[in-house]
Amino acid sequence: MSFSSQRGPFPATRMRRLRASEFSRQLVREHTLTPADFIYPVFVLEGTGQREAVPSMPGVERLSIDLLVQLAREAHSLGIPAMALFPVVGSEKKSLQAEEAWNADGLAQRAVKALKDAVPELGVMTDVALDPFTTHGQDGIIDDSGYVLNDVTTEALVRQALSHAEAGADVVAPSDMMDGRIGAIRQALEGDSHVNTLIMAYAAKYASAYYGPFRDAVGSAGNLKGGNKFSYQMDPANSDEALHECALDLAEGADMIMVKPGMPYLDVARRVKDELKAPVFAYQVSGEYAMHQAAFERGWLDRDAVTLESLLAFKRAGCDGILTYFAIAAAQLLQ
Ligand code: PBG
Repeated sequence: MSFSSQRGPFPATRMRRLRASEFSRQLVREHTLTPADFIYPVFVLEGTGQREAVPSMPGVERLSIDLLVQLAREAHSLGIPAMALFPVVGSEKKSLQAEEAWNADGLAQRAVKALKDAVPELGVMTDVALDPFTTHGQDGIIDDSGYVLNDVTTEALVRQALSHAEAGADVVAPSDMMDGRIGAIRQALEGDSHVNTLIMAYAAKYASAYYGPFRDAVGSAGNLKGGNKFSYQMDPANSDEALHECALDLAEGADMIMVKPGMPYLDVARRVKDELKAPVFAYQVSGEYAMHQAAFERGWLDRDAVTLESLLAFKRAGCDGILTYFAIAAAQLLQ
């Protein structure tokens, strides 16, 4: 076998030239991932010194407030700008109208205060939705047929968001997909002198089967009446509709918009960024985390490399940041 590499014709452009050395790969790199891109979702439960593993999310634990504060210090020291808080309450705190959601002394509200006292520089974001507090696991208040009522739910969400802002939340994040709730929450925050409370709208939130492990984590899976959230979350078949949703939420006063889930919806993130030019976040959800972890545990995928590649993909798709359960692990890799 003989090669004729010294004779032409030669390629006019050799794409591989810039790939040949680390220095030139660095020079032309279009996107970078840093710990400042992450929002770390965490689960909080009652008690002191309490930690519970979430079986379908290896490495994720529900923590009592005291332990959560330690984790917040770690996240902050790694350069992670914000945490997203999800309360897990016992069935005695759940009701048809979800009154516990706006209890000024509720678990989420106390957790916000504790986090802001301990690590004031760390942004604290709260989940505005009723599902941790409803007996039926839906995100809103239902009628006799099980249909989630939009406008009464919005009133409840306004109370919940105000109680979070009152407790010191920096960002309230409505994840419920009711119509008009961003505008109602924005008006209420302004009227209550929470002028600088940020709203991150779960604007394009799909009715996804990737949320399964999260519903295990917050204990809303078993009692989800109706079995799905199709009457308010988006149809995975749609993407024009995502632009409509995001534009509405921005017009109603959202500061940041979110696409959720993440990796299966990168096309949506890209379209939203290109069309609206607003701060766009994606949520790498529980099911995405679980399937990565499952492959890592079996040795089928390289943990470190795939973790970072999965997150860099969001930057390339135009996202300003990512909600990810890998935040701590990825931030450690990026130090
Ligand atoms: C509920 C809520 C969900 C998630 C965040 N907030 C689940 C749902 O809509 O049923 C999912 C997060 C994840 O899967 O990681 N308001």
